[in-house]
Amino acid sequence: MKPYVEMTKEELQELRKELSAQYKEFQGRDLKLDMSRGKPSAEQLDISMGMMDVLSSSDDLTCDDGTDCRNYGVLDGIKEAKELLADMMEVAPDHIIIYGNSSLNVMYDTVSRSMTHGVMGSTPWCKLDKVKFLCPVPGYDRHFSITEYFGIEMVNVPMTPTGPDMELVEQLVAADDSIKGIWCVPKYSNPQGISYSDETVRRFARLKPAASDFRIYWDNAYTIHHLYDNEQDHLIEILAECKRAGNPDMVYKFASTSKVSFPGSGIAAIAASENNLTDIMKQLKIQTIGHDKVNQLRHVRFFGDIHGMVEHMRKHADIMRPKFEAVIETLEKELGGLSVGEWTCPKGGYFISFDSLDGCAKTIVAKCKKAGLVMTGAGATYPYGKDPHDNNIRIAPSYPTLPDLKQAMELFALCVKIVSIDHILSGRA
Ligand SMILES: Cc1ncc(COP(=O)(O)O)c(C=O)c1O
Repeated sequence: MKPYVEMTKEELQELRKELSAQYKEFQGRDLKLDMSRGKPSAEQLDISMGMMDVLSSSDDLTCDDGTDCRNYGVLDGIKEAKELLADMMEVAPDHIIIYGNSSLNVMYDTVSRSMTHGVMGSTPWCKLDKVKFLCPVPGYDRHFSITEYFGIEMVNVPMTPTGPDMELVEQLVAADDSIKGIWCVPKYSNPQGISYSDETVRRFARLKPAASDFRIYWDNAYTIHHLYDNEQDHLIEILAECKRAGNPDMVYKFASTSKVSFPGSGIAAIAASENNLTDIMKQLKIQTIGHDKVNQLRHVRFFGDIHGMVEHMRKHADIMRPKFEAVIETLEKELGGLSVGEWTCPKGGYFISFDSLDGCAKTIVAKCKKAGLVMTGAGATYPYGKDPHDNNIRIAPSYPTLPDLKQAMELFALCVKIVSIDHILSGRA
């Protein structure tokens, strides 16, 4: 099949008829498919069920250092959990604080604290006329929701295949002291599955922001979420790189076990410099007497150490890999050569990103919905829900079963074809 733009009006109209018939057939199937959120499937959750058996009433819930996990205390996490999460986050255990069940919650708290109390002694952001964040786009909708909630102005920075456009980031942060942060998902990014190149990470560590309270929000949510054993993305460790570059305090690193064990019942952590951790602890000791140590202990006893975790991630990969491959195969088979869209082929993470012809994403997502397939809302990958080109759609392959996913992707590709033909024909009218 040749590119649609090279086809005559009559050819396109003829094809449109055929595709409409196929779409009607899909509508007749009464489908209820959901590819809207990056949730692990039930099959993935099942592989962590052993965690429910590692603690029982007859077990000793005492840590190596004598801490009784059943009682109050230990604000920054039990030693064993810090070691486990530190290995996962590739930092030293004394550079992390273990939180509760969600890293997003930690990010929210971090922004909230900066608003009310400032960053390491700086003016609280709420007292400033303007506060801005850089947002690499497309990106993670919930990051953008946090900054929008606090009235922080979001500035789009385009993503490239090696990470955010660093020239723009460098220029912007150096010129404007109201820019206080940047949202980053540096490995297997949400939604494109891009990992930042060595050069990008080095340039991040060497930023010269005008604001002393500027921080990189390094959300390494997919740090061990590889699809393949032999082909894995590697990232330069940002805390160490910032230290080397003379900017030890410029980054907060976040992660959680949400997509390792149970989303919503995992453990989250922040890693940062000693100065930042001291600043954070001032708030934390008011906020709580301590997080859920029993859950921390459960994770430690279940995984053992980082090797146990890596083995566990292989089981996730065995379930996720065929799903990612099915999505890519269908896109290639159905849309390859038509010049109606482009997509990413990540080696890990939870998402594949699809770029349609400009101005088509919303209509494609709506058309999918009418035939029973819910996709992430078009625009969700941009601050304020506004995709300036209306072309980005996030594909989340994890939750549906493989047969459902295959149907869903056929329907998705069909909707892309129909909407693209309508778009091309309307341009010729
Ligand atoms: C980039 C990114 N960060 C954070 C989260 C949520 O993490 P948590 O469950 O730890 O709050 C997600 C979930 O989809 C994500 O994609």
